[in-house]
This record gives sequence, C-alpha cells and structure tokens, in this order.
Amino acid sequence: MIAFLLGQYDLARGLHIIAVIAWMAGLLYLPRLYVYHSRTAVGSETDQTFQVMERRLLRGITNPAMIVAYVFGAWLIWIDGHARGWGFLLKPWMLTKIVGIVFQTGWHHFLGRARKAFARGERPHSERFWRLTNELPFVAAIVMVLAVTTEFGN
Ligand code: HEM
Repeated sequence: MIAFLLGQYDLARGLHIIAVIAWMAGLLYLPRLYVYHSRTAVGSETDQTFQVMERRLLRGITNPAMIVAYVFGAWLIWIDGHARGWGFLLKPWMLTKIVGIVFQTGWHHFLGRARKAFARGERPHSERFWRLTNELPFVAAIVMVLAVTTEFGN
C-alpha cells in the first residue's frame, strides 16, 4: 500500500491542483461579495441574502477545498521527500511556496473572521478596502505556481 501511494505522483499532483483551483476561487469570490455587502443596510433583505451566500461559499467550498489542498499537498511532500530527499523543502522555490501557503491560509482565516463580523451586523472594512485587497490571493498564487513549476534555485 505504501509503495502504491508513493508511486502516485501525477495523480496526487492533479488532485492537488483541482483542490487549489477551488480554494483560490473561494478566496477571490468572497471579498467580491464583501464589496457589495458593505453597501447594504444592516438587517435588510439584501444583507440577509449576502450572509447566506458568504456562509455557503465559505463552508461549502472554500473550507473543504483548503483542507483537500493541504491533504494532497502533504501527500506530494511525502512522495517528493522519498524521491528527492527532504532537502527539497529548503530549496528557494519550495520556501517561496511555503511562504505563499502561510499567506493564503492566513488570508483565508482573515476572510472567515470578516464573515462572522458581517453576520453580527458589523461592516469590518470599507468597500474600498475589499476592492483594493481582492487580488492579493491571485498575486500570491502567481508567485506560488511559477515557483513550483520553474523550481528556481534547484
Ligand atoms: C495548502 C498547502 C500546499 C502544500 C502543502 C503544497 C505542496 C505541494 C508540493 C509538495 C508539490 C509538488 C512539487 C513538485 O514535486 O514539483 C505541489 C505542486 C503544486 N502546487 Fe502545491 N501546495 C500547497 C498549496 C498550493 C497552492 C495554494 C497553490 C496555488 C495557488 C499550489 C500550486 C501547486 C501547483 C501548480 C503544483 C504542480 C507543480 C508542477 O506540476 O510542477 N499549491 N504542491
């Protein structure tokens, strides 16, 4: 069984990328909802609708996708550790990837806390704030994908 799992690099990589796409979709769509949610009156019908959309997006897609991206990412680390030696974790490209993972995870939790604030009837940040920060996960994803595909400094 161990030998079989260690031999599934391409399957693990494919499943990992699928989970990453879903995770990024949630991290990019949620702040867009916050942009327009920020304009609504607390307690209004539109406010309630945004709360439902945000809760479903976070709990139904973004949270599970992050967990699955981690599980398949860990599987890939395990395969790579056996195939290339654990030293690959300290390569510049993988360290860049790890910094990106820490950022994406931190931003995910930040968005989760903002969702709870909206549900309490607060407006945690301005519409302008959500517009300006909306692309941050995408910029980080560009850096992460180029790091792991070019394997610079290998
Ligand atoms: C959640 C934690 C994550 C872990 C532990 C992780 C770990 C890994 C590892 C070990 C590999 C294989 C590297 C190789 O052998 O070439 C990999 C591949 C990949 N990762 Fe992640 N990753 C994570 C999140 C992400 C995120 C957030 C993105 C994009 C935004 C991403 C994009 C990719 C891509 C595109 C590949 C395939 C690279 C290739 O085919 O050469 N990963 N990941």
